[in-house]
Amino acid sequence: MTPGMTIEAYGADALPAEIAAQVAALEAHAWPGAGAGHDPALTPRAMVLLDGSGAVAASLALLYKPVPLAGRTYRAAGLSSVVTRASARGRGYGGRLVAAARASLAADPAVDVALFSCDRELTPFYEAAGFTALPGAVLIGGTPRAPLATDEPGFDKNVLAAFFTADPAADRAVFTGARIPLHPGTVDRLW
Ligand SMILES: CC(C)(COP(=O)(O)OP(=O)(O)OC[C@H]1O[C@@H](n2cnc3c(N)ncnc32)[C@H](O)[C@@H]1OP(=O)(O)O)[C@@H](O)C(=O)NCCC(=O)NCCS
Repeated sequence: MTPGMTIEAYGADALPAEIAAQVAALEAHAWPGAGAGHDPALTPRAMVLLDGSGAVAASLALLYKPVPLAGRTYRAAGLSSVVTRASARGRGYGGRLVAAARASLAADPAVDVALFSCDRELTPFYEAAGFTALPGAVLIGGTPRAPLATDEPGFDKNVLAAFFTADPAADRAVFTGARIPLHPGTVDRLW
């Protein structure tokens, strides 16, 4: 890692105000008009990469919820709002932060699977950080009454995953090609 650079993680209640403001500014720049913050019901955590001056160069959110599939409940965590400061892109910051997020989830005994969607063109970016695409899988976001799925017309999304269970190959097979009832709610409709 570049000298002086650090990666830090915070629970929602522990995020210093100065860091929170910088994350909000990065998100507002990347997604103008999108609401700030995440649903507390998803126990969000923030991960940030700080450059040598202590400024936030990249950030992401980790969101958590149980997902029922094939008669089992998987404890899932997703990456959301992955963003690098526009002036700092292409230097590997985003990739380092996403790889650190994967390592953090892999080390978390309360997480069975990392699961999220991304625009198809970004699939290689996430694969380089250790996630793999789930062929044919569809994440169903929103709520059961107001769903939002990754195969909606006009979307061009892939589902990415990493499995941390006792039998990752078997669980990958369960998720491959499945319509996955993620249902994170109305704030983070698709993560
Ligand atoms: C995606 C993003 C976080 C990558 O951050 P970064 O710090 O530039 O990432 P890295 O330097 O580690 O990797 C850059 C690589 O990501 C890939 N990449 C980034 N954006 C891409 C895009 N829109 N299409 C295709 N590939 C892309 C490229 O392979 C790029 O490699 P290059 O520098 O050789 O061109 C950053 O571009 C960003 O903030 N984008 C806007 C917000 C966004 O789309 N977030 C993803 C939400 S799922």
